[in-house]
Amino acid sequence: LEKGIGHTVPVTVVRAGEDQKKLEMVEQIWNFLINFKFDRKSLLLNLGGGMVNDLGGFAAGTYKRGIDFMQIPTTVMSQVDASIGGKTAINYANLKNMIGTFTQPAGVIIDTRALKTMTEREYVSGFAEIIKHGLIKNPEYFNQVTAKHPNEFNDEELIQIVAESCLIKAQIVQADEQESGLRKTLNFGHTIGHVLEALSQESDRLRHGEAVAIGMIAEAKLSVLLGLLSESDFNTIEATIIKTGLPSRYPYSSVQTILDNAHTDKKNTDGHINWTLLKGIGQAVYDVQADDSHIRAAIQYVLQ
Ligand SMILES: NC(=O)c1ccc[n+]([C@@H]2O[C@H](COP(=O)([O-])OP(=O)(O)OC[C@H]3O[C@@H](n4cnc5c(N)ncnc54)[C@H](O)[C@@H]3O)[C@@H](O)[C@H]2O)c1
Ligand SMILES: [Zn+2]
Repeated sequence: LEKGIGHTVPVTVVRAGEDQKKLEMVEQIWNFLINFKFDRKSLLLNLGGGMVNDLGGFAAGTYKRGIDFMQIPTTVMSQVDASIGGKTAINYANLKNMIGTFTQPAGVIIDTRALKTMTEREYVSGFAEIIKHGLIKNPEYFNQVTAKHPNEFNDEELIQIVAESCLIKAQIVQADEQESGLRKTLNFGHTIGHVLEALSQESDRLRHGEAVAIGMIAEAKLSVLLGLLSESDFNTIEATIIKTGLPSRYPYSSVQTILDNAHTDKKNTDGHINWTLLKGIGQAVYDVQADDSHIRAAIQYVLQ
């Protein structure tokens, strides 16, 4: 039981780590809710990174057919992405985010001061999603967030950057909550990114944002190969990702392995990969299909 907000509230703690985003942890939270007699009017506050937001959101969204929860995200990734949009999920059978729901939180409370204690690596990794928001929706925002290294933004700039990212994501989700169309634009960089993230899991080589950064380069390259994106925009994107301090290559796998894994993605239909690509900085297109040869060339590019 924790005091400090004028009320005494029960608290449960989950161990950090993506490998803890699993059913056993959901059971721990459900048992906690049962033990402390949470009812349909109770509120669960999820304080932590995206892993806690996903786990707590899923536990609350399923307990007694759903009780209210609020997200209090404490990482860049969770402040600009995971806490917004109402997707909750846990990993299951070695598959990322395989079991989950669309359940909107009752609210999201963001305080960028929480970010001060993040490691540089986690902090910079979150900027991959910020850059993504610029790339799919807003060229001025892209220029603003890539004008300096992430560490160089002052407190006010950071608040503004986080707020604008939330707005971009919220607008997209509001237009298409269940991802039947526009919301797919948020998947830019994630088809290849998720595969690289999964492949790197054992060696722990990549954080989510780092995998997405490499995925964005591969998928921007595919956009060029399909004649959607100009070579000069591609060069800008690649240079920007490198300058931000994010990785741009993944020399530890093969085109075939990555392709095989991309084919099992849950966003696919009928065995086709549905790509979200760019036709300019600030303009995304979704449900694009591509020839095997182009896909292979785009993957090959980031393996060098
Ligand atoms: N639901 C969605 O729409 C959505 C979107 C993006 C990501 N996600 C999920 O979010 C997760 C990734 O989120 P993440 O990058 O925040 O990772 P995370 O929650 O695993 O946090 C990363 C690490 O930072 C620590 N941490 C958290 N806040 C801190 C702080 N203020 N200071 C110091 N350390 C802190 C955590 O304990 C952890 O060790 C993944 O599970 C991903 O699938 C979900
Ligand atoms: Zn992401």
